[in-house]
Amino acid sequence: MGIERDGKARRQDWVMRGFRQFDAPVSVVITVDRELANDTIAHFDCGAATYGLVLAAWSKGLGTVINGQEIMQSTAVRENANIPDDQVIMTCVAMGYPDEDFVANHVQSRRAVTDAAASFVGFA
Ligand SMILES: Cc1cc2nc3c(=O)[nH]c(=O)nc-3n(C[C@H](O)[C@H](O)[C@H](O)COP(=O)(O)O)c2cc1C
Repeated sequence: MGIERDGKARRQDWVMRGFRQFDAPVSVVITVDRELANDTIAHFDCGAATYGLVLAAWSKGLGTVINGQEIMQSTAVRENANIPDDQVIMTCVAMGYPDEDFVANHVQSRRAVTDAAASFVGFA
C-alpha cells in the first residue's frame, strides 16, 4: 500500500476507510436471529451464506470485502441500517464494482499450500 509504519495520517485514513466500508456503494449487513446466537450451527450457516454471497457477486463482476471491522461500530450499523434488536450483527460485506486503479486492488495475498490445512485419507 506504500504506507510507512510511522505514516500516522495515512494509517488512520486506512482505518477510517474500513469503517466507511471502503467507500463501496453497498453494505450488506449479515445477521443471525438472537434466539439462535448461541447455536454454533447458525454461525456456520452465516459463514456459508456470506461465502455464497461473495462468490455470486464476483460471478456478476462485483467485488466484495467481508469486513469484520464494522462489528466495532455495531451500534452505528444497527441505527443506520435499521437492524432490529432481535438480530445479532455478525459482519458486514462491502460490495461494488472494483476500481482496478486503486492500489489495494493490486494486492495479491499469498496462500498456504493445501496440505498445510487439509489431510487426504485414502487417496495414496
Ligand atoms: C470473517 C472475515 C472478516 C474480515 N474482516 C476484515 C476487515 O475487518 N478488514 C479487512 O480489510 N478485511 C477483512 N477481511 C478480509 C477480506 O474480506 C479479504 O479481502 C477477503 O477475505 C479475501 O481474502 P484474500 O485477500 O486472502 O483473497 C475479513 C475476512 C473474513 C473472512
